[in-house]
Amino acid sequence: MKYFALLFCLIFSIQLFSQQSVVVQITEESNSPQISKHIYGHFAEHLGRCIYEGLYVGEENKIIPNTDGVRNDIIEALKELNIPNLRWPGGCFADTYHWKDGVGPKEDRPTIVNRWWGGTTEDNSFGTHNFLNLCEELGAEPYLSANVGSGTVQELIDWVQYTNHDGISPMADWRRENGREEPWKVKYWGVGNETWGCGGNMTAEYYADIYRQYATFMPGWSGETEVYRIASGASEDDYHWTETLMKNVPHELMEAVALHDYAVIDWSNKGPSVNFDDEIYFKSMEQALKMEEYVTKHIEIMDKYDPEGNVDLFVDEWGGWYDAEPEVASGVLFQQNTIRDVMIAGTVLNTFNNHAKRVKMANLAQMVNVLQAVILTDEEKMIKTPTYHVMHMYKVHQDAQLLPSKIEENTMFRGLPALSVSASKDETGKIHISLVNIDPENNMPVELDISGLDIKNISGQILTSEKLQDHNSFDNPEKVAPEEFKGAKLKKGRILLTIPAHSLIVLQGK
Ligand code: AHR
Repeated sequence: MKYFALLFCLIFSIQLFSQQSVVVQITEESNSPQISKHIYGHFAEHLGRCIYEGLYVGEENKIIPNTDGVRNDIIEALKELNIPNLRWPGGCFADTYHWKDGVGPKEDRPTIVNRWWGGTTEDNSFGTHNFLNLCEELGAEPYLSANVGSGTVQELIDWVQYTNHDGISPMADWRRENGREEPWKVKYWGVGNETWGCGGNMTAEYYADIYRQYATFMPGWSGETEVYRIASGASEDDYHWTETLMKNVPHELMEAVALHDYAVIDWSNKGPSVNFDDEIYFKSMEQALKMEEYVTKHIEIMDKYDPEGNVDLFVDEWGGWYDAEPEVASGVLFQQNTIRDVMIAGTVLNTFNNHAKRVKMANLAQMVNVLQAVILTDEEKMIKTPTYHVMHMYKVHQDAQLLPSKIEENTMFRGLPALSVSASKDETGKIHISLVNIDPENNMPVELDISGLDIKNISGQILTSEKLQDHNSFDNPEKVAPEEFKGAKLKKGRILLTIPAHSLIVLQGK
């Protein structure tokens, strides 16, 4: 009898414990950093249907409404996201791209074979003018990724002169001949991409030397434009790469170091984008949450060599990567986008926000029809993916001041921290708290200790769906969309709420 009573007490206390709220302290600190709006950047590569047949349908297209060949529906959707920057033309494609082939009369442009992505032949009709004019239209900073792997120093500095020089010079004159008087004044320049792999299979030491050479000649075309040089960075946990760049490159030659990290479960068997099972979901989240560890450790190295924080960390490729949808060729990386992608985007963006002191830019891969896209198209149809909605809900953090958050005792989903949080205060004094519960089955009661903050009203939005596999399709484009969340209550300096399983919530406090 005594034994049963003890067992009952044990089970009861386990249940009680498992229902206890997770407590999160959210504070305001005068020295906490601003969350750079550039963390909410995007990436568009010449890959599959990202540029051609996605973003760009051609100036002559009379069926799909467009502005200079770029789809109007996409322009409108991107404007709603306040996209701060856009990286182009690659990716691996960048180290095969010769920009001079993409300017001047279209009929004179040579073709290019996209050797990395399906071997398709492109006509170079989308080039520098199209891209930079699009960025102007979107109010986004362009980020040009330059060819180091198969290009030359001269080719790169000619590109800088073409886009940035407002005086008389061979490239600025050519730009004017091609119809553009004013320079675009491009600030962000990538010096090669994945130079440890598709960008040239270089060693870190060799690339550091090459980088110094390229970076030396880049600035100086326009007094006002600060040229921001980004060194091609490590993949995942390649800490030797970051250490070599930080040690071997003089910091006055390098404004940022990049990092690439995809949530991929196995490069030879990435699993389906929609019909994944519980095990694949778990592995995807395990990979996505590694971003926290990678960013922390790369920053530790950067802190060692650059304690003043002069060199930024740019995570200029991130996102979920699965097997391409079966009906398309594998080289085009077209995948669907589900609640799993909501969980990946929400947790990764929280990591970037929380490391805002050093992480100054990030670029989701990729914008249209490729990998974790925010937009999918099918001829004249266009849909916004669940990830689009995450970017829309999180845009409130752009350029806001980080409010440090501390989770006291997280609950676990198979050994992974189930709750992810970040918070900020914008210039009007509004507070935003983004919360993600990655647990696929269990709701999570949460208490946010905001006793140091002046919040009188609370409102919110939630993004979730019945099943993890739910997604938006061309037949059902609104299946996954944000809804108002009324479940948060203010009580004695605390916000109390329960986050449903596999849900993302953004609260607003005033
Ligand atoms: O985003 C797809 C590819 O992933 C990019 O071209 C490359 O940089 C990375 O390996």
